[in-house]
Amino acid sequence: MKVGIVGKGGVGKTTTSALIARALSERGRRVVAVDTDSNPNLGMSLGLTLEETEDVPLLPRSLIVGSGGDVSAEEVIDKYGRTTPFGVTLISAIRVNEAGAGCTCGGHASVRSFLGDVLHDKADVTLVDMEAGLEHLSRSGGTLAYADVLLVIMEPSRKSIITAARTIALAEELGIPRTYGVGNKARREDDVEFFEKVCAEYGVPLAGVIPFDAAVVDADRAGGSLAEGSGDPVRREIDKIVDFLDGVTVA
Ligand SMILES: Nc1ncnc2c1ncn2[C@@H]1O[C@H](COP(=O)(O)OP(=O)(O)OP(=O)(O)O)[C@@H](O)[C@H]1O
Ligand SMILES: [Mg+2]
Repeated sequence: MKVGIVGKGGVGKTTTSALIARALSERGRRVVAVDTDSNPNLGMSLGLTLEETEDVPLLPRSLIVGSGGDVSAEEVIDKYGRTTPFGVTLISAIRVNEAGAGCTCGGHASVRSFLGDVLHDKADVTLVDMEAGLEHLSRSGGTLAYADVLLVIMEPSRKSIITAARTIALAEELGIPRTYGVGNKARREDDVEFFEKVCAEYGVPLAGVIPFDAAVVDADRAGGSLAEGSGDPVRREIDKIVDFLDGVTVA
């Protein structure tokens, strides 16, 4: 399964990507997590230090992955993938190190091509943590054109849910078969109900609602991943989302 994690800025894409990747890995799946944020920090949420995250080699731009191309998906994983403390393999696809270095289209093209070629015998699940916004769906070819599933992370705000509805429409045009909303940072008593009601209003199928949890904030402030034994309410919801994904049939 190839899963794209998208949504507005700061809604929790990276946090959720890391927690889903970690939960899948704990279930014995081989997980590849691809960071496509130009300011990459998925590595830290997967248990690497800042220095280790910055040392992950960058996927070359405009790679053609697959037979007749520059490299196979297996070679990409072997050469550019780095194993993180919870067993997830991290690939860092885009990094802006220099002002005025040009657009990141070449990095997105590499991710698109990698997703098109990565096979189930190399990774059970490939997760792509996207940069905020919808450009990855409009960009020529669409970075996530070969994704099976999109998860749109939402905060309990109407704008966030409207973004999810727009994302679903674009994803359908791109041919991505399934898109679901995931509520995050639910902290008020009526937040779950808000997600259910407003998602139904805009036709956004809801895969789950993750609570706001101070343990996630603490992990972020400490510059790392959720510590063992902390964040149980979040982990329970992540487990339900992983069960939900297990029930989704992909070609
Ligand atoms: N369930 C949660 N409970 C509490 N805090 C959360 C939760 N999810 C995310 N956060 C916090 O929200 C902030 C943004 O999270 P994160 O970096 O995952 O968002 P993002 O969507 O990847 O952001 P960006 O658009 O910058 O890539 C972080 O400080 C994170 O710790
Ligand atoms: Mg992020």
